[in-house]
Amino acid sequence: MAEDRPEAVIEARDVAMRFGSRTIFKDVTFDVRRGEIFVILGGSGCGKSTLLKLLIGLMPPSAGEIAVLDEEWSDLEGEARRALLRRIGVMWQSGALLGSLTLSENVELPIEAHSRLPEAARALIASAKLGLVGLGDAGDRLPSEISGGMLKRAGIARAMALDPEILFLDEPSAGLDPITSAGLDQLIVSLARETGTTFVVVTHELQSILAIGDRCIMLDKDAQGMIAEGDPKKLRDESEHPTVRAFFRREAM
Ligand SMILES: Nc1ncnc2c1ncn2[C@@H]1O[C@H](COP(=O)(O)OP(=O)(O)OP(=O)(O)O)[C@@H](O)[C@H]1O
Ligand SMILES: [Mg+2]
Repeated sequence: MAEDRPEAVIEARDVAMRFGSRTIFKDVTFDVRRGEIFVILGGSGCGKSTLLKLLIGLMPPSAGEIAVLDEEWSDLEGEARRALLRRIGVMWQSGALLGSLTLSENVELPIEAHSRLPEAARALIASAKLGLVGLGDAGDRLPSEISGGMLKRAGIARAMALDPEILFLDEPSAGLDPITSAGLDQLIVSLARETGTTFVVVTHELQSILAIGDRCIMLDKDAQGMIAEGDPKKLRDESEHPTVRAFFRREAM
């Protein structure tokens, strides 16, 4: 059968993760395609952040293979590894900007670390990235001087500093009120559509999943692995799996 779909930018094959004798998940297999917003969802403690760490090569899986942009993490060392890391961006669950630096300086940090651009060029890029997330006027502010929603936007701007092909976001809307969170969802969708960046977003917020997700996988603690894969709206409407149904329809089990 001829396939008319964008290339896979991430391929995870039979991935398992154990800590000691405890299996967090196993048999996890999926692709992420270029340009889509791919959501990793599931209840607290099912291993979403852990899977993210494997995808970005922060630690090796206990079993299985992960290829990002056609390169297997397990094949890469030293400069080759750093080169791949430069092609992806990450915003962690905590968001963490450096409090003593302005927003602009925070966005400049990865540029400074990974390029030899002069200060003026770095500042220009930082200003452009902050503009992209609606913070064009806030470059001189300190993290303590802006709201939680603005902090998340600034975190995204920093993660985009090096024009990543794939951007990983861990719980971007955690701790935000519903309206700010909806605004952040809109931002993610418009960045994906306008810049062509592929997004991998970890979240357990149902509203966000339905608002932004082109495709998703759902992990489950009890099943120790994936229990669903596909278009979130279809899963909501059509899944027969009791846990998947309960999650998407907000039913107690
Ligand atoms: N380095 C580690 N050593 C041992 N256990 C770990 C380690 N990292 C994570 N775990 C365990 O793995 C499980 C999954 O953790 P993880 O943080 O990936 O869950 P999560 O789905 O992101 O949860 P949340 O929604 O609360 O962020 C947890 O039980 C956690 O305690
Ligand atoms: Mg987590």
